Amino acid sequence: MNVILLGPPGAGKGTQAKMLVEEYQIPQISTGDILRAAVKEGSPLGKEAKACMDKGDLVPDSVVIGIVEERIQQPDCAKGYMLDGFPRTVPQAEALDGMLQNLSSQIDHVVSIEVASEELVGRLTGRRTCRDCGVGFHVMFDPPEQEGVCDKCGGELYQRDDDNVETVTSRLEVYESQTLPLIDYYKAQGKIRPIDGVGDIKEIFARVTQVLS
Ligand code: AP5
Ligand code: MG
Repeated sequence: MNVILLGPPGAGKGTQAKMLVEEYQIPQISTGDILRAAVKEGSPLGKEAKACMDKGDLVPDSVVIGIVEERIQQPDCAKGYMLDGFPRTVPQAEALDGMLQNLSSQIDHVVSIEVASEELVGRLTGRRTCRDCGVGFHVMFDPPEQEGVCDKCGGELYQRDDDNVETVTSRLEVYESQTLPLIDYYKAQGKIRPIDGVGDIKEIFARVTQVLS
């Protein structure tokens, strides 16, 4: 099963993906996580990506398309995968369709997690993420048992560089102008599965699994 998790910054794509990985035993492919790892390594890709990410802009299509094309052909993707944060522009979606056609494969579901923008700023500025296992928390909505420490693995929690009000505002604008058109793109393919992304995290997980099963 090949799934796309679509939704604005802070919609809960990463939160739900981590739970879906356990449920379906297929990997999460987060282009944001891959780019942040490259930034941390200080590779040429990381340096190019950091400048865009810090401003809340998208990294060039050619860069992320290349990353995904390579990643989905790895052995752990043989039974399917969840794309989190890709595609994010119509050219990315077209490139994905092209590469899947060459691989005689396709996307089965596009889960569109819907949350009003008023709620997203608070979700993002309060997010904390584990440096070791990548699990996300929220200082108010999903707090760890011990402040600054991951419940799952004991790792240190950090705040993402792009989770400040200014960058969040531009990320939301970029979403509206560049990513929102993908809803119509996948509607035309009959693949959009809208999910109300407001409410208890476990309840939303139940909504998503119902749609996927
Ligand atoms: P990326 O890492 O993909 O960030 P994003 O799309 O902005 O999304 P987020 O990760 O911020 O949100 P999320 O939906 O995963 O929310 P989460 O589950 O963590 O991309 C970062 C940057 O990389 C981009 O700006 C761009 O520069 C670059 N990039 C990445 N992919 C690219 C691409 N394809 N093309 C070009 N550039 C690309 O939840 C957020 C918070 O809310 C957490 O604290 C969580 O605990 C909390 N929460 C979750 N669910 C709920 C709930 N139901 N109720 C209350 N709180 C909740
Ligand atoms: Mg995420």
